[in-house]
Order: sequence, then structure tokens, then C-alpha cells
Amino acid sequence: MSYAVIGGTSLEGWGSGAVVGPAPPNRYGRPSALLRQIPGHASAVFLNRHGARHEYLPHEINYRANLWALKELGVTHAIAVFAVGGIESGFSVGDFVVPDQLIDYTYGREMTFRLPDSRAHIDFTYPFDRDLSANIVATAARLGIDIVEGGVYGATQGPRLETAAEVSRLARDGCTLVGMTAAPEAPLAREADIAYAPLCVVVNPAAGVVDGQISHDEMSAAVERTQAPLKALLGAVIESEG
Ligand code: HPA
Repeated sequence: MSYAVIGGTSLEGWGSGAVVGPAPPNRYGRPSALLRQIPGHASAVFLNRHGARHEYLPHEINYRANLWALKELGVTHAIAVFAVGGIESGFSVGDFVVPDQLIDYTYGREMTFRLPDSRAHIDFTYPFDRDLSANIVATAARLGIDIVEGGVYGATQGPRLETAAEVSRLARDGCTLVGMTAAPEAPLAREADIAYAPLCVVVNPAAGVVDGQISHDEMSAAVERTQAPLKALLGAVIESEG
């Protein structure tokens, strides 16, 4: 088994390991960043979906080139880390959540590799790999890290955050979390036969869930505060599966 962690700003420092990936671009274009060894976990690779200098906004990411680069490297399992807004009232900033469902509100993004064998019509009833998701939850429990199992990730187009009314609609649809990047990343992983599971970090209450505006300082503080347990959890999952 070969592991990848796809992350963004929430995993600072993991973009500094040795380069392992094929040099971009591949047949779908240029991946967001070079694939790098994860410090302390040499068998796994890290891909920063927003780019090494955060140059790609969610709608600008070349998700196909990213997933294809992992596929070409022989990656079989990918843990996708997301900073998200919490919609469900029980969530606190800093919570870890492994959602089990996805609603895609994005548009205009390249959603399929268009492989010749009809793989565009993948079964997507359960959008995330259930064994890998279960392992993330079990590993968190073993390490004494609180984690919420299950939930619905609403993928919005961004790059702006949502209005309060948009978040009310997401809540009525059943979304418990909101982020901007799980689609089309998750369906492309399924097409590429990569077992893919999400690990979300709640960095703010979604718009209108609490009074007031969303604070970028609060989001950054949550990212900072969760770095150590997040990296410990990811490392332990990689070691347990490797
Ligand atoms: N909305 C969408 N994406 C996000 C949010 C949010 O509130 N927080 C972090 N990513």
C-alpha cells in the first residue's frame, strides 16, 4: 500500500520533505505542487493542493493533475485534510470530523478524467472509502484524540465564504460541514481507484451559525492549535496501514 496525504495550509512544514514525485506537468496539466516525502514517514507522500505558496484558490486547483500525479506514483490510499466551517451546532472550533457523505455545489470544475472505459459513471453512493475512514476514527480513539464520525460535507464554489442564508440552505439539505475542495477531488480519486477518506478540521462556525462575522484570525489560530494532534493522527494512520 502506498499512502498520500492531500492537505493545504493546515499542514505547514509537511511541504519541506524530499521530492519524490514525477516532475509536473502530467497529461492533465500541472499539479499544485511537487510530491514530497512526509517528514518522519518516508513511505508516504504529501501534496499541498493549494500549492507551495498557496497560489491556487479552491476553484483554480487542477484536481485532475493532482490526482493523476498520485496515481502515476502508485498511490493506493489518500487521506484528504480539509479546513472546514462547522454547520451542526454541536461542533466547536478545533474539532476533527470524518464525514461520510458529500453534496457537491461546485460548478465549472473539471470533474472527470474522461478515461476510455466509461469510468466517468463511477458508483458514488458512498463517496469516501469506508475502511480508511474507519481506521482514521479508530486510530484517533487509540491516541485519545476526540473525533466525530460521520457527517455531510457540503462543497461550495468559493472562493468567498457563504452568506448566512446559503448556510441555512446547506443545513436544510443536511450538510453538517462546509468546505470548498472535496469536490471534485473525491470523485476523481474514485475514478483513479484511490481509496480516499476525509479528515476535516473545523476552523470556524459557518456563516450565521453564531452571531457576528467569520474571523480569519480565529481560523488561523484553529489551524495552528490543531497542527500537533493532526500530524500525530495522520502519522499513526500511515504507520498502522503501512
Ligand atoms: N466555508 C467554506 N469553506 C471553508 C469554511 C467555511 O466557512 N471554513 C474553512 N473553509
